[in-house]
Amino acid sequence: MRTLSAVLILAVAAIATLTAHDHHGRHHRGVHHSNYCGTDGCGSDCRGSNCGQQSNTAAMRSAPAPIEDMQVIHFLFDQHSQVTRRVNFTDDGIEAITESADPTVRAQLRKHVRAMKQRLDQRQPLRQWDPLFAAIFEHAGKIRLDVFDTPNGVRIVETSSDPSVVKIIHAHAHAVSGFVTEGGANMHKSHPVPATGSR
Ligand code: HEM
Repeated sequence: MRTLSAVLILAVAAIATLTAHDHHGRHHRGVHHSNYCGTDGCGSDCRGSNCGQQSNTAAMRSAPAPIEDMQVIHFLFDQHSQVTRRVNFTDDGIEAITESADPTVRAQLRKHVRAMKQRLDQRQPLRQWDPLFAAIFEHAGKIRLDVFDTPNGVRIVETSSDPSVVKIIHAHAHAVSGFVTEGGANMHKSHPVPATGSR
């Protein structure tokens, strides 16, 4: 009987471990699947009852990140050394040009940026465990993001009339630059939200 209890306790502990998220979600059950980013560091952290619904409230939850979005993100992480990027920080936001000489990488880059713009417009956050990404989506209503193709990639202009949101845009641009320079090594890195106050 004691042996049976011990087995039961071990089984419960094992299930809890498999289903638990740390804040990066690395330990969730999907981690080795093709959508292994679906609920972890790269994507959504859908945990609430209103998962998958749109909401403008601070309590909004991530929509489950489509496999396609995650595949593109992983491709970009993998191919980060094929990507070049320069950012011009302005008083009201950024202008960034991100390009690749490789046509496939370039196409995925364009796809990613437009998918993310759509997510911003529709308030469908992902990577909500990361405070900076949570903040970007929380303030999506105050962010204007325009996307243009360049011959080798994309140029984006991202602005806000709210100085505290401009700080978030700047910080996010640094985060994206970190993804480009570091690749997957930065995938699970959390980014703080910049303090508000004087710039
Ligand atoms: C965990 C992985 C990633 C997530 C969750 C993510 C998410 C986002 C989001 C939400 C945006 C739109 C919001 C905004 O621009 O303020 C964005 C834009 C962008 N992302 Fe990603 N991204 C990821 C990885 C990457 C990678 C690996 C690259 C390239 C190597 C990349 C390149 C870009 C670019 C170029 C933009 C346009 C904005 C800019 O140039 O600053 N992203 N991403």
